[in-house]
Amino acid sequence: MKRVHAALLFLSFCLTSCEVPSAGAVPQEDLVDTKCLLNKYTHRSCSKVFCQPWEKCVDGTCTCKLPYQCPKNGTSVCSTDGKSYPTYCHLKSYGCLNRRAKFLKNGICTAEGKFSVTLNFGNTDSEGIVKVKLVGQDKEMFICKNNWGMVEANVACYDSGFPQGALNTAKWIHSSGDTSNTECLQVRCQGFETTLAECSFSKRRFLGQQEVATVLCYTPDADLQAHESFQCVNGKPIPLGRACDGVNDCGDQSDELCCRGCQEGSFLCKSGVCIPNQHRCNGEVDCITGEDEIGCAESHEGRAPATPLSRSFQDGLLHSGVEHPEVPEETEILTAAMDTERKWIKSLLPKISCGIKRPTHTRRKRIVGGKPAQTGDFPWQVAIKEEGKIKCGGIYIGGCWILTAAHCVRPSRAHHYQIWTSLIDWIQLNSGIGVQKVERIIIHEGYNGTTYQNDIALIEMKKHLKQEECVFANSIPACVPWSPYLFQPKDSCIISGWGREKDNQKVYSLRWGEVNLISNCSQYYPNRYYEKEMECAGTTDGSIDACKGDSGGPLVCTNANNVTYVWGIVSWGENCGQPEFPGVYTKVANYFDWISYHVGRALISQYNV
Ligand SMILES: *[C@@H]1O[C@H](CO)[C@@H](O)[C@H](O)[C@H]1NC(C)=O
Ligand SMILES: *[C@@H]1O[C@H](CO)[C@@H](O)[C@H](O)[C@H]1NC(C)=O
Ligand SMILES: *[C@@H]1O[C@H](CO)[C@@H](O)[C@H](O)[C@H]1NC(C)=O
Ligand SMILES: *[C@@H]1O[C@H](CO)[C@@H](O)[C@H](O)[C@H]1NC(C)=O
Repeated sequence: MKRVHAALLFLSFCLTSCEVPSAGAVPQEDLVDTKCLLNKYTHRSCSKVFCQPWEKCVDGTCTCKLPYQCPKNGTSVCSTDGKSYPTYCHLKSYGCLNRRAKFLKNGICTAEGKFSVTLNFGNTDSEGIVKVKLVGQDKEMFICKNNWGMVEANVACYDSGFPQGALNTAKWIHSSGDTSNTECLQVRCQGFETTLAECSFSKRRFLGQQEVATVLCYTPDADLQAHESFQCVNGKPIPLGRACDGVNDCGDQSDELCCRGCQEGSFLCKSGVCIPNQHRCNGEVDCITGEDEIGCAESHEGRAPATPLSRSFQDGLLHSGVEHPEVPEETEILTAAMDTERKWIKSLLPKISCGIKRPTHTRRKRIVGGKPAQTGDFPWQVAIKEEGKIKCGGIYIGGCWILTAAHCVRPSRAHHYQIWTSLIDWIQLNSGIGVQKVERIIIHEGYNGTTYQNDIALIEMKKHLKQEECVFANSIPACVPWSPYLFQPKDSCIISGWGREKDNQKVYSLRWGEVNLISNCSQYYPNRYYEKEMECAGTTDGSIDACKGDSGGPLVCTNANNVTYVWGIVSWGENCGQPEFPGVYTKVANYFDWISYHVGRALISQYNV
């Protein structure tokens, strides 16, 4: 690395101690959920974040896809190893697997030179003023001060060989006397990039004071002042005041994934993740719970679907004012944002359809109380009949598969069961009912009939003769939750079934009621409640509860986007309808991997397939 100690620029680094939170700031310890930190969540934890389109979620971790699993559509890109790839996704999945292939430029490879990042005038190799040479440009240029943040600084450090990213963006440096540089490069990254070449660059004139970007990259031997710090999962310490502020300072996002609240300028997802305010209402869902795109002005809906910018900008320059009205006049866009390409690839990924009911015209008041259901209200509800009687409820999750409680069924009796779909009243039969035989029953291997642990089973229905798949005209699968953070205590959810009333009266028609998730049921059922595997729900007065005969049926919760998930399976409870004995449900999110192992990941994975 070039180490010129010229008096060209006056250098005044300011290390972490510059960033002491001002007095009166919210005490950061209160924002961080320390128990959650034990899980060591990062940008690769699918229970907290969506995976990138070149990744898939396997056993809770975003892992690299194989290039052939990428959508075929897109434009070619050139990698630093001199190879062209059919799409950006192909290159990213390849780079994810072997880390040597990095993005160089859009379009196929030609002989236009290299991309380089250098750190200049620092006291060590890990710090300095950042200079970049873009592909196709003949000279190195400074990076402008504006827009330069930790996200960009982290990527600059990866480029310079520091895998844990930046410790600080340091302070802006006032250059003195360098009149030959009248322009600087303005850069914007998203945080998923492994090289600055993937970020978008535009050129602008130095305005007023000539201020350029500097960085201090993290090295494990860095001599840090003993400061109250937050330990990132990648080993890098950051000032505590920078956790839960929406900015991915760590580089692995671990500072934003276990938050009880967020600092100003950022938005708290229900899943305990802080995202920058700019990501709210930007047309892309960032919170796994979906609420960052709720209540937004219509403007995004009317926008044309994301098309790859690379098409129009492939090699040349594009003057501002046309597609980027927010770019000031004196800037000139040099490279396209690969973020736009990433969004486009995301839109091409296969999607499954679940948890969305057909629109009904009847408006139903949401009343607490066991209410009779109407046709179409619970299109995932099924009845398991044995010898003409409803034995248990079940939940349709797609394909030929029904989810139910293990205590409801016995594999040896599979041929005695019938699955009734779209049933409402079993005395006065409604139209549209389907009756299926059972092909096989899979009981969870950890099911314990004494403790009711792992009270979960899968039923595969028989296909009708000549049918390729199970098709039920009126059934819609409920979505299977992949993360325990999709719903929280106090959320309102719905139970449904043909179970008995409180006074043990028989029920012939499907009924439903609203219940709230309860945070810690150990207080009601000491030594019998297993927090990871079970979920509790009820009402304060106990008026709504699951009862005998509801077993195996659904506890469903609906998210901000009106997508319904099977959050629980009716399992057990003491008595019925008593507030001190809430209903206990099998926590389905804990069994996502078990279910996907048996039914196939593609059937139930909404994202990250
Ligand atoms: C993908 O490419 C195929 C073939 O070029 C084209 O027919 C199809 O419309 C493209 N899909 C999208 C979503 O652009
Ligand atoms: C069920 O759990 C109880 C209590 O922990 C234990 O004693 C029993 O051995 C378990 N049974 C099975 C079949 O695992
Ligand atoms: C749940 O409640 C039990 C008993 O009241 C208590 O020991 C336990 O620490 C609580 N767990 C959580 C996570 O609050
Ligand atoms: C969800 O459904 C409710 C009630 O039908 C409706 O008012 C609301 O606009 C829907 N929300 C979304 C995001 O579709």
